[in-house]
Amino acid sequence: MVVGRVIAIANQKGGVGKTTTAINLAFALADSGRKVLLVDLDPQGNASSGIATPEDVSASRREGKTIYQALVGGLAIAEIVRQVRPTLSLAPAGDDLVGAEIELVTMEGRERRLRALLEPVREEYNYVLIDTPPSLGILTLNALVAADSVLVPMQCEYYALEGLNSLLGTINKVKAVLRPELELEGLVLTMFDSRNRLSHEISDEVRKHFPEKVFQSVIPRSVRLSESPSHGLSVFEYEPKSSGADGYRALAAEIVARGENGAGTN
Ligand SMILES: Nc1ncnc2c1ncn2[C@@H]1O[C@H](COP(=O)(O)OP(=O)(O)OP(=O)(O)O)[C@@H](O)[C@H]1O
Ligand SMILES: [Mg+2]
Repeated sequence: MVVGRVIAIANQKGGVGKTTTAINLAFALADSGRKVLLVDLDPQGNASSGIATPEDVSASRREGKTIYQALVGGLAIAEIVRQVRPTLSLAPAGDDLVGAEIELVTMEGRERRLRALLEPVREEYNYVLIDTPPSLGILTLNALVAADSVLVPMQCEYYALEGLNSLLGTINKVKAVLRPELELEGLVLTMFDSRNRLSHEISDEVRKHFPEKVFQSVIPRSVRLSESPSHGLSVFEYEPKSSGADGYRALAAEIVARGENGAGTN
């Protein structure tokens, strides 16, 4: 049962939970026996340091086995991936990725480079998750063109919907010009605080605007989720009984149920 579903996790707003979602969703899917590749496409490298040991991260950087070296330097994905858990592999990011936004501009097929890189390996994985930076620049564009679907984390705060139109507009342009099959996997509400009236209002508002596109599972605000990456661990390893672990477990189950029933949310 290899489907090789490629999911880009994107929202140009900073700090909405993209990386936390990428790490914990990747782990949850891998823990259920699926083969998963997590691609860190953010120069901040938070997904890499959040799931790999500091030694592994610095070894990748020292050896030049980074996503930059694949995107710009011509290495194959297989040459840069590092196995970080039994069925979870990581294509790590290093500081070198900072330059890629500029260098890619003049390269041939600049928006399709990640897609081309993933093509030969996607059948080896059940899921490929791509963590993206907080911008709609060329790295995020590469993620969208490479993806089958986009998962959009939205923080439950007052300005949650702000900027969503430019993201959805970009997704539609990518669909029209570069990648007709691209779907919206869905919106996932993050940092939900059940005691906070605003969280409920934002949740209602987002569900009203995007009926059918919002995941039932909601990721609660949980200190365990913010602590676990500093140990290089997913929340499932750090505190498996936390509300954050429950949230991502449920989200993974929803994504698996949708994808493997062949039901898109488009
Ligand atoms: N559900 C949550 N509960 C509590 N803290 C969270 C939760 N999700 C994320 N955080 C924390 O909020 C901050 C931003 O989260 P994260 O890094 O996942 O966002 P991001 O969208 O990837 O940010 P950036 O745009 O900078 O890449 C981090 O400190 C993270 O630990
Ligand atoms: Mg991030």
